[in-house]
Amino acid sequence: MTSTTLHRDAIEPTLFRQLLGCFPTGVAIITTRTADGQPAGLTCNSFSSVSLEPPLVLFSLRKASSLLGAFAEADAFAINILSERQDALSSRFASSKIADKFEGVAWRSGPLGMPVIEDCLASFECSVHARHEAGDHDVFIGEVKHMSGGPADQALVFYKGAYMMLAESLRTLVIQGRLGSADLDEAYRTLYGTLLRLACERAAEGEIDAIEAAVDGIERHQATESLDQRIESASRFFSAIAAAGHNEALTLMAQTMTTILRERMTHVIRMRPRPDLFPLRRKVVLCLRRRDADGAAAALDELITKLRTGGDAAAEPGGQ
Ligand SMILES: Cc1cc2nc3c(=O)[nH]c(=O)nc-3n(C[C@H](O)[C@H](O)[C@H](O)COP(=O)(O)O)c2cc1C
Repeated sequence: MTSTTLHRDAIEPTLFRQLLGCFPTGVAIITTRTADGQPAGLTCNSFSSVSLEPPLVLFSLRKASSLLGAFAEADAFAINILSERQDALSSRFASSKIADKFEGVAWRSGPLGMPVIEDCLASFECSVHARHEAGDHDVFIGEVKHMSGGPADQALVFYKGAYMMLAESLRTLVIQGRLGSADLDEAYRTLYGTLLRLACERAAEGEIDAIEAAVDGIERHQATESLDQRIESASRFFSAIAAAGHNEALTLMAQTMTTILRERMTHVIRMRPRPDLFPLRRKVVLCLRRRDADGAAAALDELITKLRTGGDAAAEPGGQ
């Protein structure tokens, strides 16, 4: 046995992955066009800068990836760097089960025709400069031809196999069933009760209109809507309340709660439509219009209680 073999044997794959995970990275969605012009893309943390002059960047793509052919044939690609708020996009583009990853995603064609995803921290459109085989990956080096900056949000950070953010830790706890329903309900009551009280003092009429529009959205097509659409309407209702409260710290907490809401509706609790609860959301809006903080908080309280206890266990705060 040569020393090289000895060395190789020592690199046990699971430990190798685990140790690589000690290096925190950002997360990007790399996009291109297939030969017939369809947008294609995947989540990637192997993005790295290479050279300033000329401006070169790289990423490595698994040879086993279903997208290898598309990238190998394309003469350009785009790197879209994700913000902390785009964790769901990251999961979407990391899935091999979603047929059309771009469905419902806001994107535009860049000057080279590559898909540039909206609201990313930064996007770089590159022509392919070189491609190198490297073990079970191909390394693509791109020359940056166009770039654009986005919002001044925090980056989505991947570290030790998970996104490094509060929401992600909480999501893991939710999925593992380590965050109890009673605790979550109490958190919803406290957080959104406070936000409603603040909204009664601070909300402009237009912001209450936005909450009412979200309620309209929830009631409009709920029998025919997909779970994704219903989750979106539910999230919009709570986001609109958060915006009306005008407190940045509480808004961030509310975003975290929305992430949990999505996760629970998708993975934990089967949600059925609840038309019986329509009047309670209307009451929240009515009380807000009257600047009746106690009334609004009480209506929300009742909504949360009924969601949990009414009928079956099929509901979640914000569920319909
Ligand atoms: C945070 C994160 C980083 C990833 N980084 C890479 C990467 O650098 N290269 C790669 O080929 N796949 C990477 N993946 C996996 C791909 O996103 C995933 O395999 C692909 O989208 C699924 O489609 P496929 O199975 O057809 O390749 C990453 C996944 C995640 C969640």
